[in-house]
Amino acid sequence: MLEQIDELLVKVKGFNTTNTAEIEKFRIEYSGKKGLLNALFDKFKDVPNDQKKAFGQKINALKQAVAEKLEDLKSNTREIEPLELVDWTRPGIPMDLGTRHPINLVKMRIIEIFKSIGFAVSDGPEIEDDWHNFSALNLPEYHPARDMQDTFFIEQDPDILLRTHTSSVQIRYMENNEPPIRILSPGRVFRNEAISSRSHCIFHQIEGLYIDKKVSFADLKQTLQYFTTELFGKSKIRLRPSYFPFTEPSAEVDVYWGLNSETDYRITKGTGWLEIMGCGMVDPAVLTNVNIDPEVYSGFAFGMGIERIVMLLHQMGDIRMFFENDKRMLEQFKSL
Ligand code: DAH
Repeated sequence: MLEQIDELLVKVKGFNTTNTAEIEKFRIEYSGKKGLLNALFDKFKDVPNDQKKAFGQKINALKQAVAEKLEDLKSNTREIEPLELVDWTRPGIPMDLGTRHPINLVKMRIIEIFKSIGFAVSDGPEIEDDWHNFSALNLPEYHPARDMQDTFFIEQDPDILLRTHTSSVQIRYMENNEPPIRILSPGRVFRNEAISSRSHCIFHQIEGLYIDKKVSFADLKQTLQYFTTELFGKSKIRLRPSYFPFTEPSAEVDVYWGLNSETDYRITKGTGWLEIMGCGMVDPAVLTNVNIDPEVYSGFAFGMGIERIVMLLHQMGDIRMFFENDKRMLEQFKSL
């Protein structure tokens, strides 16, 4: 009897397979309810007393060897096991295609419109110095207009900051290129103005700049009118006098949205007019700062917030939706 157990022990130790069905067969053969181990334990009571100890030790050794072997075999198959369970004939799992973010879609559309009249895209860094974000744009230190844009500073003296507008790209481009200049600069901007839960300190702008000989205010108005017609299908605009340090004269651009629905009344506050951007003729001081002769060249610039335009185009009521990554919102732009 003891020899028989010894033989089994050798057999167990020598057993090897990676086939899960064979492993299961092995398990049932040895440790199943009607398996060899139970059968041996059953025989224990018939073993003469003087052999009980040796017999007990042997079957315990066998039991342990079986347990170890099973553990061993299972760990070897762990990686391939799921493969064997795959039903290769099943239909595939559909892949969720991503969608472009509405901000990007509208940005691309705006770029397309301006490209068709000769504007090229140019971008600049999000981390800026004081010169490009403020000083060169005719916003000297301590100028109160700096307060219009609460700034995130990274370092002070000399100031390094997160750009508060895309107007900084105007300076970078004019420093490195000769007129004629016709550029569009989309990008992220940052303002330290979390004054309400509705406002967001990161948003997107698109800047436009046109510098050449004899560029006039009429060119500006015509360009903007072309743009609003293409984007909104609305050609009636008005330029309201305003102030920006880098343009003179400056204006806010309003589009006549109409009063055809309740929504129109709400978003235009009953006036029919909607403000969409700031603009103006580039201030001669700005041109001088970038070594362009204001006696020879003139130009216009404009800047608009993209979020606002997306909200107008798609009748979105809350700017926070852009940043929540809610697929139910994003998927609505799938087909655009
Ligand atoms: N930079 C301005 C802002 O962020 C927007 C702006 C106004 C840009 C007039 C321009 C401009 O280029 O001419 O509020």
